[in-house]
Amino acid sequence: MMMSLTPTTENLPLLPKALPQGLQGEVLIPGDKSISHRSLMFASLVETPVEVVGLLPSADVFSTRDCLRQLGATITCEEAKTGRWLVQGKRQWQTPTDVLNCGNSGTTIRLMMGLVAGQNVYAVMSGDSSLNKRPMGRVIAPLAQLGANWQGRENNRLAPVVHVPRAEENRALAGLAYTMPVASAQVKSAILLAGLYSGQPVTVVEPLPSRDHTERMLSAMGANLTVEGTTITLAPNQAKNLTPCNWLVPGDPSSAAFLMVAGALIPNSNLLLKNVGLNPARTGLLLALQQIGAAITLENERVVGGEPVGDVRVRYSELKGNLTLAAAEIPALVDEIPILMIAGLYLQGTLHVSGAEELRKKESDRLLAMQTELGKLGVTMDLFEDGFTLVGKPDFVATNPAAPLATWHDHRIAMALTILNLVQNARNPEVATVWALEDPTIVNVSFPSFFETLAGLA
Ligand code: S3P
Repeated sequence: MMMSLTPTTENLPLLPKALPQGLQGEVLIPGDKSISHRSLMFASLVETPVEVVGLLPSADVFSTRDCLRQLGATITCEEAKTGRWLVQGKRQWQTPTDVLNCGNSGTTIRLMMGLVAGQNVYAVMSGDSSLNKRPMGRVIAPLAQLGANWQGRENNRLAPVVHVPRAEENRALAGLAYTMPVASAQVKSAILLAGLYSGQPVTVVEPLPSRDHTERMLSAMGANLTVEGTTITLAPNQAKNLTPCNWLVPGDPSSAAFLMVAGALIPNSNLLLKNVGLNPARTGLLLALQQIGAAITLENERVVGGEPVGDVRVRYSELKGNLTLAAAEIPALVDEIPILMIAGLYLQGTLHVSGAEELRKKESDRLLAMQTELGKLGVTMDLFEDGFTLVGKPDFVATNPAAPLATWHDHRIAMALTILNLVQNARNPEVATVWALEDPTIVNVSFPSFFETLAGLA
């Protein structure tokens, strides 16, 4: 399959209108976004060239790449087809001569804030209109306790943020024992990454386990890091112990999620999603779908680059039963709630989600965004501060919208609405029509080949 990496409104492949055979075929799932960011960042901390294979070529990952280049790393694409990149890092980063532009990427800004603090360089970081509305105080505050001087707009709450370096004699950061108020892998990672440059132990306690890619990858690079339940402890002065490690990036379960739901809802579908990351901190959607009867099975399970990986077979089946998800379940599907709502629309049962207030702080307020756009399609759902209730029905038919649906500057909103459109057309060919989206190109943030992949499966 050809990859047009930057879909524009002009070259966007058309969404299939009728799918009498359902979705059929195999998809090699593009690289994991979280691991792609981290592979570039961590490779930039050592002097020996590091090879990354399977890197996700998306706008968010390119934001990280571009920031790292400004900080002194040399990062080159060796082979686009396999996502093979070479990174030549530096133990001591240089001071960037311009603002570090993080685009739409929360992972870029938050993790890099930890690294910049540790590296002790002057830097200003900013992003797009969506990123600059997202909370940064959650990173600034613990980094301040480590001794870093990050400041941000509106009383240290928002980006742009600026880091003023410490005097050379106070370069080492302090120790820290920090209990995190929210389960956030980005905050946890920012603290651990700054902590690599602490002269004392750094301990982070999570309220609930969030994705642990940072811990796995730093351990693979030789950092002395211990995990006991939700307590992570990093020994002092680990930056200098880091050894180079080549990375093989598994496919992104958060991208596979859209195809899982499409395959489960479109009659006759039989899809094989290949090379999907199956880290237990990321498989919440898969388990939730299985719980309501989705025919999803795992094949070829293996370990790739320290992460569990497998091929995911999805067949059409009727979704039945009530599904209730509370705070403890949210971190493992925190990015998958918009697409879970689409499954919920067709459920013979009720989908009830609580403890998900973090969704309001993502690329958009995802609870409000989905309620608003689904509302335009004739769906009523009860929204709460931390979740929602959605009563599904197997014969659900959306009202075709008269005007373009808003995409809220949010890739996952655009993709969830597109999957709903595809499912609706497949299940109701008599009313099939392709809905206009305000900005379909926002999918470039995480899944540039999204539309092409859907077109190829028809
Ligand atoms: C990410 C962590 C999650 C997730 C985001 C990527 C990461 O955010 O929503 O898409 O790579 O660490 P939080 O850690 O803020 O929940």
